[in-house]
Amino acid sequence: MNMEEKKENKSQAVVEVIDSGPLKISGNLLLKDLKKDITDNSGEVYLCRCGRSGNKPYCDRSHKK
Ligand code: FES
Repeated sequence: MNMEEKKENKSQAVVEVIDSGPLKISGNLLLKDLKKDITDNSGEVYLCRCGRSGNKPYCDRSHKK
């Protein structure tokens, strides 16, 4: 098992669906975007699920417009 696989196994996160908004993901998470960049964040992130964000996969609050 390589280092990346070990990090994935340790990751735990809570996913919360926000009404008419993004997915809030908090906890110890590992996020891989389309460019294969990896974000190891132990805080929280908001992921767009409306498709309008100009900063996908993150919510930029465009869902409120
Ligand atoms: S959910 Fe916020 S911009 Fe898409």
